[in-house]
Amino acid sequence: MNNFTYYNQTRYVFGHGEYNNIGTLLQGKCKKLLLHYGGGSIKRSGLYDAVVKALQDAGIDFIELGGVKPNPCLTLVREGVELCRNSGVDCVLAVGGGSVIDSAKAIATGVVHEGDVWKLYTHEETLTATPLPVATILTLPAAGSENSPNTVISNEETGRKLGYGHELLRPMLSIVSPELFLTLPPEQMAYGACDMLCHIFERYFTNTQDTELTDALCEATMRTIMQQASILRHEPQNEAAWAQLALSGTVAHNNILGLGREQSWTCHALEHELSAVYDVAHGAGLAVIVPAYFDAVWQANPGIFAQWAVNVMGVTPSRNTERVVKEGIQRLRAWYKELGLPQTMQELGIPADADFAAMAHGACSVRAGGLLPGVRVLNVTEAEEVYRACTNSVTA
Ligand code: NZQ
Ligand code: ZN
Repeated sequence: MNNFTYYNQTRYVFGHGEYNNIGTLLQGKCKKLLLHYGGGSIKRSGLYDAVVKALQDAGIDFIELGGVKPNPCLTLVREGVELCRNSGVDCVLAVGGGSVIDSAKAIATGVVHEGDVWKLYTHEETLTATPLPVATILTLPAAGSENSPNTVISNEETGRKLGYGHELLRPMLSIVSPELFLTLPPEQMAYGACDMLCHIFERYFTNTQDTELTDALCEATMRTIMQQASILRHEPQNEAAWAQLALSGTVAHNNILGLGREQSWTCHALEHELSAVYDVAHGAGLAVIVPAYFDAVWQANPGIFAQWAVNVMGVTPSRNTERVVKEGIQRLRAWYKELGLPQTMQELGIPADADFAAMAHGACSVRAGGLLPGVRVLNVTEAEEVYRACTNSVTA
């Protein structure tokens, strides 16, 4: 196990009806907030009215900015920064999924950063000020942004989608009420479950030794995500299953599962290029990338892949490691298919003659040395091969 420091400032409030307490939970912590949300789901569900009432009852002043799109955009972030600066806002409340929360984190950072907020994402500038505090009410369990220190933003002008991380960007407060997920369409549940699972893959598949505790925590969380998502596929109104999936989603990405482990994030780097260029849902892009990536790298560390196949995918142990690993990957493909997730670039709407070389360059350019880390390090040519493997038809 490697050395590590873990700091997590989020007050995490979980349970039915807890979002009604947003006003009292924020009392004394902010005077005027920006209420930030997406394209309208919170108005249709009645959550918007409940939040406004709770804020008014608590005497918390607010302004609002809606319209965050999936794969949130820099233009709205800049608008939010100006709005906050001109209005004396001292806190940002995100009510939505990962896109709204990430946009809120970007605004909270941009307000205090003297330079250009996008240059934090490109690593051309460093943050020296403390971001405004961010509070969240989660409406979609998926990205884990409710307890992660990360934000991912798309720049419409440059066509890049980049992440930025800072420990102070973990929200000061996140409320997770499972009944808020009952209005989600089935594809968003599937995208979310796929994303959570991949957050664990990025940590679990490592060459770091002596990681038995986090191995076991990862495996339990992966099994829970797969079990609960399969239940929700058939019972979308099962609030108890949503509760288990949502807690798993937070645990999957608050980095408890990654402590002391060398991490990869290669599937995410590859997927963010797809989202940036073709605006596909993050979880859908991951469903296509992950199996092809596993096929490409498992031989670099067959032991960890066989352990996963047996402990998570339920494959019978055998001395024939190759058979065990391939059966595990095949079962993952089958589970993606059961959830209705895409299997190929074509199903994502990405043509076979897409510029995969440019996307491979983009994915590698954000990593140290221009190489994608993991059990096997990938260069640009190898990254392009993974994209091309996703254009082949698969049978699950
Ligand atoms: O905009 P509204 O109308 O709210 O509709 C949203 C949106 O269309 C809808 N939705 C959300 N809650 C709903 C609902 N519809 C009905 N009922 C509800 N309760 O769902 C759609 C998708 O929302 P979005 O926020 O885009 O999805 P998700 O939570 O999956 O977030 C994806 C974004 O997070 C980034 C991804 O790259 C992507 O941009 N990620 C952020 C991470 C982080 N900050 O740590 C890590 C992840 O790996 C990921 O990269
Ligand atoms: Zn993700």
